[in-house]
This record gives sequence, structure tokens and C-alpha cells, in this order.
Amino acid sequence: MTGKNCVITGANAGLGYETAKAMALRGANVMMVCRNEAKGKRALIELVQASGNQNIYLQTADLSSQKDIKAAAEKIRERFAIVDVLVNNAGTWISNLTFTEDNIEKMFAVNHLAYFYLSHLLYPAIARAADGRIVSVASDSHFQGKMNFEDLYLTKKYHGLRAYAQSKLANILFTYELDRIKPNDNVSTYAVQPGLVKTDIGVKHTNWLHAFAWKVRRSGGVTPDIGAKTQIYLSTADEVKDQSGKYWDKCKPKKSSKRTYVEADAQRLWKISKELCKIDDFFKDSL
Ligand SMILES: NC(=O)c1ccc[n+]([C@@H]2O[C@H](COP(=O)([O-])OP(=O)(O)OC[C@H]3O[C@@H](n4cnc5c(N)ncnc54)[C@H](OP(=O)(O)O)[C@@H]3O)[C@@H](O)[C@H]2O)c1
Repeated sequence: MTGKNCVITGANAGLGYETAKAMALRGANVMMVCRNEAKGKRALIELVQASGNQNIYLQTADLSSQKDIKAAAEKIRERFAIVDVLVNNAGTWISNLTFTEDNIEKMFAVNHLAYFYLSHLLYPAIARAADGRIVSVASDSHFQGKMNFEDLYLTKKYHGLRAYAQSKLANILFTYELDRIKPNDNVSTYAVQPGLVKTDIGVKHTNWLHAFAWKVRRSGGVTPDIGAKTQIYLSTADEVKDQSGKYWDKCKPKKSSKRTYVEADAQRLWKISKELCKIDDFFKDSL
């Protein structure tokens, strides 16, 4: 990985932090995309100390904001003309129906649309890499998920679990569709299930009951360094180059839910995502 340019979203905590650390230890140039500047700076200092790698950079962005994503992508492309690896990792779990400044339900915006939009904005730089990779962190929660196309934001019957599961299903539909239609053979894309991991995702924007339930549930999980192994593997291993468009768990491909293989749903989601991000052609440079 020495000299390769890697962009990791949500790199200040949990799985994203461990992924950034693994890249830094392997000598990559690492761009951490973080919402909170103070947390991001703290994590960056820790990573430089832990790895001895000075080529670690911080880009702040609230990934619920399309304006922020675009501004961040511009800065990232100023720094990296080529992006070898993009890890779409930042994710959130929100108990109450919440809307972003773009008037999009927030879990759909952060967990799916930010993956879609950032991948689009960085795609020209990823396509310039000899072996470009887009790794999207999904979850086995998608097995409980359903695309509610008639009420995508679940306004009629919102529940955090439903919104989260739908957003993680969207990650896999996005990965499969991207793999089907991408014009570049040198670009690969993968979706990942990290397993149950002891992170703070379920205590940040949740009510007391959901926070309590997450604390109990995560006690049976693995630590973030173990949970991050598959996304690190897909970002770095030579042997997965020809295995684009699959769902991975414990460093092996596995079957995802039946709903992830419905191509019509993937196409519909792709079209909606393009409209919401105001994109004409996903593969055309819009910066
Ligand atoms: N933990 C699990 O058991 C598990 C299982 C399956 C899948 N996953 C997936 O793994 C990924 C990482 O989650 P995690 O468990 O490592 O959680 P985490 O420790 O809470 O990390 C999530 C990261 O995303 C960032 N983030 C959240 N909302 C953001 C926004 N609007 N803009 C920019 N950054 C934002 C967080 O920033 P802040 O620190 O500022 O909040 C943090 O850096 C997620 O996609 C999640 O769905 C996790």
C-alpha cells in the first residue's frame, strides 16, 4: 500500500479509525473524512504516533450535507489526483425521524446517499488508479431491510431499526448496480458485513431505550480492530481484484438477502439517488 491514496469516511472512531490505522501502518497516504474537527484532529495525531506515517490528512465534512460532501470531494481531489481506495464507512443510527438540510431522512442520507454521492464525485480519481477500489460498509441488518420506495423516508411508520436496515440494504444494491454498470475494468467495488462490533454507533443519536439495548447487544460483539478486518482486506489484498460486486463477511464472499439481487430495485434506487444528488451521469466528472 506504500504511496497509495486511501480515503476513509468516519475515520475518527470505531471501524473507520481501525481501517485508517491499518492503511497508515502499511504506508498509504490516508485521507480521514470526519464530521467533527476536534475529534478528527485527535484521531489524526494518534494515528501519526501509532504508525510513524506523516502522510495522514484530515478533511472535515458532515456527510448528511450534499454541500459539505461536494466541498470535501473538491479538497480531496486537490490533494489526491488519483484515489486508489475509497472506504465508504461513516454510518449513523438515529431513533427519531430526522431530516437533513437537503430535506432527506438522515439515516438514508448518511448511510446510503453519502456513499453514492462521494463515490460519484471521486470516481474520476478512482478510475485513474491502476487498481481502484470502492469498499462500502454494509451490514447483515440488511436481511431485515426492505426498500420502501413509496415512502422512502418512512414518514408514515418510522422506526430506527427499519430505517437502518433499509439504508444497509441500499449499500448492497448500490454496490451490485455499480459493479454491473461501471465502465472501467480497473475499478472494483465490494460491500462488507463487519459483524457485531463494540462501537458507539448505537449510543450517539438514540433515545435511552435504544442506547440501553445497543449497550447490551454490543457486549457480545468483537472489538473494532477485529471487526475492521474484512474492509481492510478488501482495501489491500491483491487476490480480490477480480472479485468485484460481491458481499463479504470474515474476508470471504457470501450470499446477501434475496432483495439485494432484484435488479429492478437496484436500478430504481440508482435513479432516485441520482435525482436526489442532482447528477446526470454518475460516471461523468461533475467537479
Ligand atoms: N458496530 C457494528 O456492530 C456494525 C455492524 C454492521 C455494520 N456497521 C457499520 O459500520 C460503519 C461504521 O460504524 P461504527 O460501528 O464504527 O460506528 P462509530 O464508531 O459510531 O463510527 C461511525 C463513524 O461515522 C461518522 N459519522 C456519522 N455520521 C456522520 C456524518 N453525518 N458525517 C460524517 N461522519 C459521520 C462518525 O462520526 P462521529 O464520531 O462524529 O459521530 C464516526 O466517525 C457504519 O456504516 C455502520 O453501519 C457497524
